[in-house]
Amino acid sequence: MGLKKGRRRAPLWEAMKAYLERGPASWHTPGHGGGRGAWRDFYRRLGPEVFRMDLTEVPGLDNLQEPRSVIREAQELAAAFFGAGRTFFLVNGASAGIAAVILATCRPGDAVLMPRYAHRSVFAGLILSGARPVYLETVWLPDLDMVLGVEPAAVERALEDNPRARLLLLVHPTYEGMVPPTRSLVELAHGRGARVLVDAAHGAHFGLDPRLPPSPLALGADYVVHGTHKTLGALTQAAMLHLRPGLEGGEIEQALGLLQTTSPSYLLLASLDAARVRAEGRGRRDWARAVDRSLELRRELQDLGLPLLEGRDVRSAAVADTDVTRLVLPAGPLGMTGPELARALRERGQEMEMAADKYVVGILTPAHRQAVVRGFLRALEEIAGEAMSSGVPAGPAPGWPAVGCRTLPPVALTPREAFQAAHYTLPLEEAVGRVAAELVAPCPPGVALVAPGEVLTPEIVERLALLRGPGSKIRVVDA
Ligand SMILES: Cc1ncc(COP(=O)(O)O)c(C=O)c1O
Repeated sequence: MGLKKGRRRAPLWEAMKAYLERGPASWHTPGHGGGRGAWRDFYRRLGPEVFRMDLTEVPGLDNLQEPRSVIREAQELAAAFFGAGRTFFLVNGASAGIAAVILATCRPGDAVLMPRYAHRSVFAGLILSGARPVYLETVWLPDLDMVLGVEPAAVERALEDNPRARLLLLVHPTYEGMVPPTRSLVELAHGRGARVLVDAAHGAHFGLDPRLPPSPLALGADYVVHGTHKTLGALTQAAMLHLRPGLEGGEIEQALGLLQTTSPSYLLLASLDAARVRAEGRGRRDWARAVDRSLELRRELQDLGLPLLEGRDVRSAAVADTDVTRLVLPAGPLGMTGPELARALRERGQEMEMAADKYVVGILTPAHRQAVVRGFLRALEEIAGEAMSSGVPAGPAPGWPAVGCRTLPPVALTPREAFQAAHYTLPLEEAVGRVAAELVAPCPPGVALVAPGEVLTPEIVERLALLRGPGSKIRVVDA
C-alpha cells in the first residue's frame, strides 16, 4: 500500500461539492429535492447537508455503470492504494462483488470449490451462474464449535478431484478473524488453472499495520472483495471489488452492470472515496492505535480470568494468521451461552457484532476510544462478579442453534436447479431426506444452514426447527 501525498485527493467528493457550489435548480431525481420533500422529522435528524449531498448522475458527477471521469479516478486511486490492477465501487455491499465474480467467471455446471461456511452472497452467485458448489472439508475448533478454515491438503484433494474447477473461494478472514494460508492456496489453484476469489469482507484494514494479516491482494488472489463499510470508514453498504494487476475485468464490469442499481447513492460512493483518503492518510496511525488498544484489552481480560481467543490457541494448517482486532470472547467461563452473554452485555449498554453458541464476537476499530474500552471491561467485570456469586457451573447450556452445520450435507441439485424447480412447502418434521429449494442463512453471519439443492439431513432439520420455532415450514423441491 502506497502513501503518496498526491493521492490524498477525493475526486468524487470534490466534484460533488463543486456541483453544489454551482447550485443549479433540480429538475431531476431524487424526489426529496434537497430535503424539501422529505418528512420533517427525518430531515431535521439527518440535517440539510445529507439531503443536499444526496446527488445523482448529473453532468460532472460521472456514472457508476460506465465511469469515465471522477468515479473512474476515485476507483483508480483506490486500486493504487490497495494494490489492485482495477477497483470497482460497490453500493450493494460486498455481496454484490461476490455474486458478480461468480456470475462473470462461471458457466452452468462449473465447479466452485468453497467452504460450506461461505457467506450467503456466494449462493446468489451460484444461483445466477448455474455453477455447482464443491464443499471443502472444514476444520473446527471443538471447544468453541467455531470454524477455523480449510487446510491446503483439502484444497489440493478437491482440485485433483475436480480438474476443471473454475474458481476457488476463500474467506480471508472468517467472521472470527481466522486467516487461511492464502498464498499457498492461491498457488495450488493457479497451478490447476482455477482462479481465486477472496471474500475479504471483514479484512479491508489488513496490511495497514504489520501486526495485522496481509491483504489477499499481496498474496496473488485474482479477485478480492472488501467490505469497506465493515472495518474502514465507509457508510454501510459501501464496498469494493479489486482485481489483481493484469486482469482486464470486462466480464466483471458486465456482471456488476447487471447486479448493481442504475441509481447508486452518491453518499455511499463518496464514502468510499473518503474511506480510502482516510486509510491512505492516517490508516497506519489509526490501526497501530487499534492494535495497541486490542492488545491492552486482551491483557486486562486475561487478568480478569476471561481471556479472548488468541492466535496461539489456534493451531491448525487451516489458519495462517489471525486478526488481533477481532474479539472472540468465550462465554463458557461465565457459565453462559454466547447469546446469554450477548444479552448480559446488551443490558449493560454493550452491543456485540455477533453471538454464536459458545462465544460472542466484537470488532475493535480505530473509532474505539479508551473510554469505550473501559466501559466494555467494566460491563464484563460486573457480569463475571455476578456469575461468580451465583455459583453458575462453567460450560454453556445446550440447545441454541449453531452457526451452519458440522457435517457437509449431500448435494442433489445445483443451487440454480433447486431454486428454479417446482417446489412446495412442507412442515419441517416431514422434510428429512427431501431436497431444499430455499436458502436459509440467518445474518449475522449469513452462513447457510441449508442451501438450495442440498438434502435435508436430520441435523439440519433439527437446527431449522430451533431457529424457526415449532410448526414452521420449509420449501422443498417437488421431485
Ligand atoms: C464473510 C462475509 N462475506 C460477505 C459479506 C457480505 O457483505 P455485505 O453485507 O457488505 O454485503 C458478509 C457480511 O456480513 C460477510 O460476513
